[in-house]
Amino acid sequence: MHQYRVLSGIQPTGEPHLGNLLGAVRWWVTDQREGDCFYCVVDLHGLTVAGDPAERRAASITMATLLLAAGLDPESCTLFLQSHVAEHAQMAWLLECTASFGELRRMTQFKDKTAKGGEEAARVGLFTYPCLMAADIVLYDADRVPVGDDQRQHLELTRNLAQRFNARYGPDVFVVPDAQIPPPGRGARVMNLQEPDRKMSKSAGSPQGVIGLMDDPKDIERKVRRAVTDADDGPDPVRYDPAAKPGVSSLLELLATLEGVGPDDVADRYTRYGPLKADLAAAVVATIEPIQARFRELEKDPDHVRRVLRDGADKAGAVAAATLRRAYDAVGLLPPAG
Ligand code: TYM
Repeated sequence: MHQYRVLSGIQPTGEPHLGNLLGAVRWWVTDQREGDCFYCVVDLHGLTVAGDPAERRAASITMATLLLAAGLDPESCTLFLQSHVAEHAQMAWLLECTASFGELRRMTQFKDKTAKGGEEAARVGLFTYPCLMAADIVLYDADRVPVGDDQRQHLELTRNLAQRFNARYGPDVFVVPDAQIPPPGRGARVMNLQEPDRKMSKSAGSPQGVIGLMDDPKDIERKVRRAVTDADDGPDPVRYDPAAKPGVSSLLELLATLEGVGPDDVADRYTRYGPLKADLAAAVVATIEPIQARFRELEKDPDHVRRVLRDGADKAGAVAAATLRRAYDAVGLLPPAG
C-alpha cells in the first residue's frame, strides 16, 4: 500500500521548458516510486486561451510523450488526459458553486493574464480556471500536489475550497491537499534568462530566455551564453545574491539544482561568468539530451502513448467517479434510481 496520494497537472499548450522540468516534472518522476501518483495533461485548461484544434490534439500527445520520455513510468503512476475523465468538468461546477467571485478575482494569474487584453475580452474559463484546477486535485483525494512556486496561490485556494465544502456538507468529503513546492533556489521558480526578475514561462517573456525541453543543444548553449548577468568587474563577481545580482544568482540556482547542491557552493567554484555559463550549459544539455533521445523513440509509436493514456483514464475515471458521487450525495443531488 502507498502511504500517500499525489496529483499534479501540466498544460499541453506552449512548449514545455526547463522550469516545468525542474519545478515539477522531475519531482513527479521521483514521487512515483513512493506515492500513488496521478499525473494529468490538463487539456481542458488549455481552452482558456485561443488555439487551433489540430494543434491542440498534437500538443496533447506531444506532452504525454514528453512526460514518458522524462521518466514517468505507466507501471508506477497513472498518466491521463483531463478531457478523458468527464468528472473534472462536473466537479469544477461544484467548486464554482463553492468559490466566491471576490476570491477568484484576487487570483494573481487572472490579473496578470488579463492585464494586457482587459477583463472585458477575457474568457470566463480564465476566471474560473482555479476551480477546475481544484477539481483536478480533490477528485483524487490527493494529499500532496507537487508544483512550482507559481501555483502556490492556486493551491491555497484549493485548500480553502475543500475546507469550506467540508464545513458545509460533511467533514470527510474532500481530502485537504498540501502543496509540495521545491525549496527556494532548488527549482521552485526558474527565471527567464533574459529577464531574471520574471519566471520562465511558456506564454510570456523573452523567448531567448526560455530553455525549451525540445531545444537543440546548440540553442541551449547559445541561450545560456547570452543569459543576462551584470557588469560587476570586482574581484569576485560570481556571488549568490538574488536581490543585488538576480542574473548570476539565477544561473547559480540552476546549476545548483541540477547538481543537487546549494547555490553558494556553486558560487565558490567560480570567479568569472564565462566558465559558470559553460558548465551550466553542459549540465542542462546533459539533463535534456537523454529526454530528447527517448522522446524521439517514443514518438515513433503514438498508438502506444494513446494506449497509456486510455489505460490511465480508466484508472483515473474509477477514482474520480467515486469521489464525484460522494460529493453529489453530500450536497444533496438525488442519485438516479438504481
Ligand atoms: P503549467 O502547465 O503552467 O506548469 C506545469 C508545472 O510547471 C511548474 N512551472 C515552473 N516551476 C518552476 N519554475 C518555473 N519557471 C515554472 N513554470 C512552470 C508549474 O508550477 C507547474 O507545477 N495550473 C497549472 C496546471 C494544473 C495543475 C492542476 C497543477 C491544472 N490542474 C492540478 C497541479 C494540480 C499550470 O498552469 O501549470
